[in-house]
Amino acid sequence: MDVIKAHGASVPVVGLGTWQLNGAVGARITEQALRLGYRHLDCALIYGNEKEVGEGLHASGVKREEIFITTKVPHTELAPPALERAVKQSLKNLRVSDVNLLLIHWPNPHIPLAETLGAMAKMKREGYARHIGISNFNRCADREAVKVSSEPIVTNQIEWHPYLDESKVKGACDKHGIAVTAYCPIARGRAVGDEVLTSIGKKYGKSAGQVSLRWLVQKGAIVIPRTSKVERLSENMSIFDFQLSPQDMAAVDALSKPAGRVVSVGWAPNWD
Ligand SMILES: NC(=O)c1ccc[n+]([C@@H]2O[C@H](COP(=O)([O-])OP(=O)(O)OC[C@H]3O[C@@H](n4cnc5c(N)ncnc54)[C@H](OP(=O)(O)O)[C@@H]3O)[C@@H](O)[C@H]2O)c1
Repeated sequence: MDVIKAHGASVPVVGLGTWQLNGAVGARITEQALRLGYRHLDCALIYGNEKEVGEGLHASGVKREEIFITTKVPHTELAPPALERAVKQSLKNLRVSDVNLLLIHWPNPHIPLAETLGAMAKMKREGYARHIGISNFNRCADREAVKVSSEPIVTNQIEWHPYLDESKVKGACDKHGIAVTAYCPIARGRAVGDEVLTSIGKKYGKSAGQVSLRWLVQKGAIVIPRTSKVERLSENMSIFDFQLSPQDMAAVDALSKPAGRVVSVGWAPNWD
C-alpha cells in the first residue's frame, strides 16, 4: 500500500471509511478489509461503532503496529477535559492503547481552537495519539490551526470528490505540509452511476468509483471509501495499476459544481 508522508506520519493512501458500519457488518467488514490488505481505518467516536471496528481489528490477526488508526473527537467535546474523556473512550472502544492520528471532527466556534489544540497536543505527549490533525477546516481555519498548534498538523480531512472543487483548500494545506484526506471520495455512491466517470473507466477497464478514487489519488489525496459489501473492498483498493491521462483528469475536473457537496451540517462555519 502506498503511503503519504506528512510531519513524520506515514498514512496509507487508501483507508476504510467506517461511518454507518454498525453491528456485525462493522466487525466483519473491518476484519475482511484488513485481511485483504487495508492498513488504515478511519473511525470516529460519533459513529457509535468503534467497539465493532475494534472487534474486527483484533479478529483480523493483523498486528496493531501494521495498522494506521484514525479517530476523531466530536465538535461537542473540544473543551480540554471533555476532549480527554472522549479520547480515552475511543481507545477503550477500540481496545488499543493509542491511535495513530487524532482529529478534531468539526471546528466549534464556541470553543477556542488554541485550547482544543493544546489538549490534542497533551494527548500526543501522553502517548494516546501519535499524531494530531483536523477535519472540515477551510483555508482560513487551516492557517489558524497551524498558527496556534504546538504540534504539527498532519492532515485536514475534508469532503472531496469529482463534484466538489477543493483545489484552494489543497493548495493551502500544501503550503503547511498538511496531507489532505478525502472523505466521501465516491460522493456517497453518486460517482458510481456517473456517465462521464463510467465512460472514462471503460478505457482502463475500471469502474466509475475507481476513476473517482484514482482522480483523488493523482491529486495527492488520501482516500477513505466506505462499503458494507465485502466484494467491493478489493475494487476500492485496486486503483494503483492505472494512471488517468491529463485529458481524463481534466474531464473529471469539469464535473465539479458550486452545490456539489453531499454533506451539509447546519452549524458548520462559513466556507470559502
Ligand atoms: N470527517 C468527516 O466529517 C467525515 C464526514 C463524512 C465521512 N467521513 C469518513 O469518510 C468515509 C467515506 O465517506 P462516506 O462513507 O460518507 O461515503 P463514500 O465512501 O463516498 O460512499 C459510500 C457509499 O458508496 C457505496 N459504495 C462504496 N463502494 C462502492 C463500489 N465499489 N461500488 C458501488 N457502490 C459503492 C456504499 O454502498 P455499499 O455499502 O452498498 O457498498 C455507500 O453507500 C466515511 O465512512 C467516514 O469514515 C468523514
